[in-house]
Amino acid sequence: MCGIVGYIGFRNATDVLLKTLKRLEYRGYDSAGIAVVNGELKVEKRKGYIDTIKSDFKGTVGIGHTRWATHGVPSDENAHPFVDCKGEIAIVHNGIIENFMELKEKLIEKGHVFKSDTDSEVIAHLIEEYYEDSFKDAFIKAVNELKGSFAIAAVMKGQRRIMAAKNESPLVIGIGDHENFIASDIPAFLEYTNRVIVLKDGEICEVTDDFVNIYDLKGNEVKESITTIDWSVEDAEKSGYEHFMLKEIFEQPRALEDTLHALLSKDMPEMDFERVHIVACGTSYHAGLTGKYIIEELLHVPVYVYYASEYRYMPEIEEKALTIFITQSGETADTIGAAKRAKDLGNYTMAITNVVGSSITNYVDQVLYTNAGPEIGVAATKTFTTQLMVLYYFSIIFASKKGKISKKKANELLKELQKTGYYVERVLGEEDNIKKVAREIASAQSMYFIARGRNYPIALEGALKMKEISYVHAEGYPAGELKHGPIALISDNMPVIAIVPEDELYGKMISNIKEVSARNAFVVAVSSNNDVKKYADTVISIPKTNYLFSPFTNAVALQLLSYHTAKILGRKIDKPKNLAKTVTVE
Ligand code: M6R
Repeated sequence: MCGIVGYIGFRNATDVLLKTLKRLEYRGYDSAGIAVVNGELKVEKRKGYIDTIKSDFKGTVGIGHTRWATHGVPSDENAHPFVDCKGEIAIVHNGIIENFMELKEKLIEKGHVFKSDTDSEVIAHLIEEYYEDSFKDAFIKAVNELKGSFAIAAVMKGQRRIMAAKNESPLVIGIGDHENFIASDIPAFLEYTNRVIVLKDGEICEVTDDFVNIYDLKGNEVKESITTIDWSVEDAEKSGYEHFMLKEIFEQPRALEDTLHALLSKDMPEMDFERVHIVACGTSYHAGLTGKYIIEELLHVPVYVYYASEYRYMPEIEEKALTIFITQSGETADTIGAAKRAKDLGNYTMAITNVVGSSITNYVDQVLYTNAGPEIGVAATKTFTTQLMVLYYFSIIFASKKGKISKKKANELLKELQKTGYYVERVLGEEDNIKKVAREIASAQSMYFIARGRNYPIALEGALKMKEISYVHAEGYPAGELKHGPIALISDNMPVIAIVPEDELYGKMISNIKEVSARNAFVVAVSSNNDVKKYADTVISIPKTNYLFSPFTNAVALQLLSYHTAKILGRKIDKPKNLAKTVTVE
């Protein structure tokens, strides 16, 4: 996910581009850059935040970019805009050009010289290749060559127009008086205009000071209507959601699909291992613990899961293991320290992270990425479920490679994995009921979250989310452990959130619910089985999935429960007290 902007009109383009880009910084902040046309084409781009761009280019036409790295590490060379060989055409791009290798090879054969590792640079060279005497025609021809997702804006030396195109990545046009705007998202230009055209997939747009022409891929003109937006700038940044956390919860179907799509289009690294260690902190630790259940079930190799802060100082273990580090930010000090130690001890290491080029990637042998896009809310949501996606995918592929499951079984499981976005979408449809349950439990002083097996880590995660953003004391337990101590604290109406999937442990969970009910707990069951209504005080209904995949749906239901509890309690949901999104201290 990146942010792109464009401006043409009577104002200083540099000022408008930097201001509008700033509003898109939530879409990525690995690098930034602008290109301004004032007869000549001028470009400034750099690794880092938008504030590092200090140019004072004069000109009233330009484009800009803020990057969330996917192909190529964050660096000055990989920052947008990209220019063609002559430095006359500049482009910015958000998305992934899937056929860029093929296009790049063809262009190199024709003499084009590339300066970056990105997929995006091919676009500038393609336009150059097609240019005869019309910037618009060359742009349309180039767009027709692209496969994948894209929102693109391009400018050219000596031209007073911006060309833009959209396919599966967002792009909107802001309509002003003698000025027009382009952006990935409406808030970017909302202070200048609230009249917008939302482009559709496969549309190409020519924007000048006084007109906006829209074409289909064949170059035929298309009519699109202008919509007037009545959001405030702040509302719009969150796409109308009240908090980033809620927006990110709702982004999960897409994030899961993007993550799986990226995994499917890559070869899995070759690795040979007899045991696995997983090391992480907080929510990432809970993803690792879920991974343990899945890896052990499918691969039948032992998996040990460690808190990174503990692993760092553990006595040396003789046996070597594939050691997997999970960190959404890639910058958590404890996890990086643990990765250095694992390497020093001679282990083969792999990271699962959401941030391309983050520090952890420098300390491991292999990296698998989640494709969740930037997560702004301190509470990890979409990065958690996409970590699960990577761990499930890893387990299925290696179980098949190691001959622990048949190819047929692997394909069946991959098909189920592809449906997780759909099932999560259905959990999101239960939001109103979950809000109602939140009202029933919000006044509690303390709560328990219980589950068994592969959902035990989801109980831990549910409790962590609840503590973190609602400040209500919450603990997660394996349901069978309650009777060994924690049940002593159950008092009248204390909420016990029980995760009751329809799996081999369903009956055991019902027995545990009866135990706490008998002590007057207020039982909230999260289940796809209607029968559970007989035993619980209230139920959060979720769709039935293949038993192996229930952690995804249960996790999302609990994210919504903690979000709405925190909201009822009036907490600062996106920035809870005492916490930071990235913990770079030990
Ligand atoms: O960036 P990381 O995944 O390494 O972060 C680890 C924890 O700090 C993080 O998961 C934390 O527990 C979350 N804020 C929980 O929502």
